Amino acid sequence: MYDFKIDPADKTAMYEELANALEALVQGEPDAIANMANAAALIWETLPDLNWAGFYRNVGRELVLGPFQGRPACIRIPFGRGVCGAAAETLEVQRVDDVHAFGGHIACDAASESELVVPIVRGGELLAVLDLDSPRKARFTAEDEAGCVRLGEILANAI
Ligand code: SME
Repeated sequence: MYDFKIDPADKTAMYEELANALEALVQGEPDAIANMANAAALIWETLPDLNWAGFYRNVGRELVLGPFQGRPACIRIPFGRGVCGAAAETLEVQRVDDVHAFGGHIACDAASESELVVPIVRGGELLAVLDLDSPRKARFTAEDEAGCVRLGEILANAI
């Protein structure tokens, strides 16, 4: 049984603990789907104000839905489309304060107001994107971005 109980009150400490917990979870496990599934669950139970947390995998230059927590979501996203597709195309983090103001945003859940998408890259190649959605506008700060980039770095060696 895993019981991490991470306190979200202090963001810096929370992301350190989250990174440590993720490292412990994926340690010695080579299965990418298992590791993404546990990562989605850990993020979902730790970060407040999320309505979706999970992964889209790069399958032949198309994003295909991977393990997640939240409501059922669109299954395939072309590179360059929506927030996830923009992250996949540019390999740059997309931190969107207001998804309704983002041209081409794909509304999988009408409750989503802001979004953070982190490309997971190994050896210059996109493996997947980590996608977090919030029902609160401007939910994700630069600190959230840095914390989630760290999680992406851990996952780049575990998926
Ligand atoms: N909103 C995303 C699509 C994925 S869902 O949020 C789970 C986008 O615009 O890429």
